[in-house]
Amino acid sequence: QTFYLSDYTPPAFLIDEVSLTFRLAPEATRVISRIHFVPNPDTTDRSFFLHGEQLKLISAKIDGHDANPTLTAQGLTAEVPDHEFTWEAEVEISPATNTALEGLYMSNGMYCTQCEAEGFRKITYYPDRPDVMAPFHVRIEGDLPVLLSNGNPVDQGEGWAEWSDPWPKPAYLFALVAGDLRATSGTFTTRSGNEVALNLWVRPGDEGKTEFGLQALKDSMKWDEDVYGREYDLDLFNIVAVDDFNMGAMENKGLNIFNSSAVLASPETSTDANFERIEGIIAHEYFHNWTGNRITCRDWFQLCLKEGLTVFRDQQFTSDMRSEPVKRISDVLMLRARQFREDAGPLAHNVRPESYQEINNFYTATVYEKGAEVIGMLFRLVGETDYYRALDMYFQRHDGQACTIEDWIAVFEDATGRDLTQFKRWYTQAGTPHLTVTEEWVNGKYNLHFKQETKPTPGQPDKQPLVIPIAVGLLAHDGSEIVPTTLLEMTEAAQTFSFDGLTERPIPSILREFSAPVVLHRDTNNQERAFLLAHDTDPFNKWEAGRALAKDVLVRMITKGTKPDTGFLDALRQMALDDTQDPAFRALAMALPSQDDIAQTLFASGVTPDPMAIYGAVKTLSRAIAEHMKDDLPALLAANTVTEPYQPNAEQSGKRALANTALSLLSKLDNGAAAQAQYDAADNMTQQLSALSCLIRAGAGADALAKFEQQWHGDRLVMDKWFGLQVMLAEPEDAARVAQTLTERDDFDMKNPNRFRAVFGALAGNPAGFHHPSGDGYRTMADWLIKLDTVNPQTTARMCSAFDTWKRYDADRQAMIRDQLERIAAKPDLSRDVTEMVERIMAA
Ligand code: ARG
Ligand code: ZN
Repeated sequence: QTFYLSDYTPPAFLIDEVSLTFRLAPEATRVISRIHFVPNPDTTDRSFFLHGEQLKLISAKIDGHDANPTLTAQGLTAEVPDHEFTWEAEVEISPATNTALEGLYMSNGMYCTQCEAEGFRKITYYPDRPDVMAPFHVRIEGDLPVLLSNGNPVDQGEGWAEWSDPWPKPAYLFALVAGDLRATSGTFTTRSGNEVALNLWVRPGDEGKTEFGLQALKDSMKWDEDVYGREYDLDLFNIVAVDDFNMGAMENKGLNIFNSSAVLASPETSTDANFERIEGIIAHEYFHNWTGNRITCRDWFQLCLKEGLTVFRDQQFTSDMRSEPVKRISDVLMLRARQFREDAGPLAHNVRPESYQEINNFYTATVYEKGAEVIGMLFRLVGETDYYRALDMYFQRHDGQACTIEDWIAVFEDATGRDLTQFKRWYTQAGTPHLTVTEEWVNGKYNLHFKQETKPTPGQPDKQPLVIPIAVGLLAHDGSEIVPTTLLEMTEAAQTFSFDGLTERPIPSILREFSAPVVLHRDTNNQERAFLLAHDTDPFNKWEAGRALAKDVLVRMITKGTKPDTGFLDALRQMALDDTQDPAFRALAMALPSQDDIAQTLFASGVTPDPMAIYGAVKTLSRAIAEHMKDDLPALLAANTVTEPYQPNAEQSGKRALANTALSLLSKLDNGAAAQAQYDAADNMTQQLSALSCLIRAGAGADALAKFEQQWHGDRLVMDKWFGLQVMLAEPEDAARVAQTLTERDDFDMKNPNRFRAVFGALAGNPAGFHHPSGDGYRTMADWLIKLDTVNPQTTARMCSAFDTWKRYDADRQAMIRDQLERIAAKPDLSRDVTEMVERIMAA
């Protein structure tokens, strides 16, 4: 069944009150519901349908009389009065056998829920759609010490607790947690003086990993007040860490539930990157309280309304907490790696999709990351003042409502007086625009001619021109800036912008800050790239120039068999040793493009990528860099080695990143001696793991891997790193076998998404291993996706995207992948989730 945006109809009935009672039992939990329905004045439709899946109905009554409902696999219908009425039902569910981790399920003896997008229908019969919002009253009965739900606590006793959430909410924001949990607690006083109790709940044993998360929560609460004027609206805010979780985290009202990997942190067990990610996710979920919960989505096609905006907000937060340029570069790296890849392949879809079979398949980089870029472009186009004016209007106008992208656009139009009709195409047109620029210098006039083009995507053969904000600066040949960053607003398919009054032909710095999510093409040379790498005042474009240089070198190595060129090596060395630059920035500038990024670039320029050749070229170039910098590396490593006690802040982590870059280059020359020394001395996971990676790459990791396992076998999150690293760094011909061998261990449990992803996400993330000509990578991946589908369709479906680049490759690889996709498609009872993914990928 396919759902279409154009089929939207308002709900026949609204709800003004819900009471739920849970009698918890692992395989026979009873859910008793009492729901007061009111006819929706906005429609004449009076048909009554409640969603419900995998429920055992015990009883159903309407106004106290038997309801006699008609049951289907999707829910039920019943005869109802045409005025308000009360629905009462009792159902039985089995959390202990719920391995899909959707609805109410169990994880390590604790009960928890995941209802977004459509999990509530596996808890009880209900209009499980986000435009039906109601206050919830919840009673939990169960012999577990901690019983939590949304909102404020009402009362509790031995074996029971009652909760009440005054804020009307859709069912997807419902949450329940019950278990033997320990809290780390704190308070936050809102700017209007309300004291909020904060708790971060974990399983016994994890208490030492909560401090950072709690601080991140306080920082987020403060930031949203300072920057957006948004205050928290309950007396209590709970966060719970759960080991078995399909995604990162969930913004349930007043009771956020987190994948333990997205909240638990300690210096010994978490890397700098983990800390930063955790801070960002805590902020993200907290920010949803306004952008998602107080103002929610009318239907799931509008998902980007809350996700794009909330990602944009968490990105702003991280730039404020850490380094703005470093955050921007990291986000663009991620956008290109995941979203550009998606937009260029069979899974391309609009930021606001128009149809789906399974909505969980649309929690994508396009909805989230491109959705955030679209907000970023709005921000640039209207300017900071008008942006916040519009946001104030949004909160004021739509508080308590379930909204659409049209509502959002209308707010910006009303707040700024702009016509955003054309801008809206960013939401309704898939594919990454390609922007080509040529220059002209005539009689002191400098012209930039731009052309935009978006290639066809599935179901969208013809593309219209978009509004593209292009930030441009102009530099003189002595390196000074003659025109500071200026925002050009491109609206036509082809358009020229002129600059007058210049005394020399400038060197342009185009698409500063990555002002729009496009691929920029410009005929340039490496001399100019090196100039921009040295002189650009825009940190993003400075980094971009270095990246373009590296890509050019790699592409020539791969396609023409050239040697790594010294011009590049000199420029890179100069950048690495430039102490006026932030170490974190230098580390980013020294990182080579990923193998998948190179494959994507080659394919876009009409070359069939050979993953083995790419792997070889990256290896050769890294070695050449190491040799070129041989005499500098020990000093670079020493200068950036942090000797103060570990802190996960931007300054220290930047130094560690640069030190790690130096260490990994050094390891190519000393057979891992320096890495072994760092491994043995490390007192934090960042240094321990980076040393371990260097040792594995140098072919000297066996000993350290064994020690690591011995030290950390009791810590699931750390062991996920151990599993992942071995597959990620395996030689191409070994990767599939390493993955398979790891699955044979007792501590490989495919029911745990983190562990499954550690192994198979890493296999997909080892391109030369995954695409090895033997086909072993494809086969092993398909074997396990077929196994996992029965257990957890959602995680299986997400991992199918490993195959989404198949059309890039040669005929042999395409045939092998097609065979595996067909094998998956042929699995009896294949889930709806995976069916949709495989169909879309194969349709390419
Ligand atoms: N709304 C959550 C977030 O952005 C994501 C939850 C999605 N879960 C799912 N099963 N689709 O943080
Ligand atoms: Zn979100």
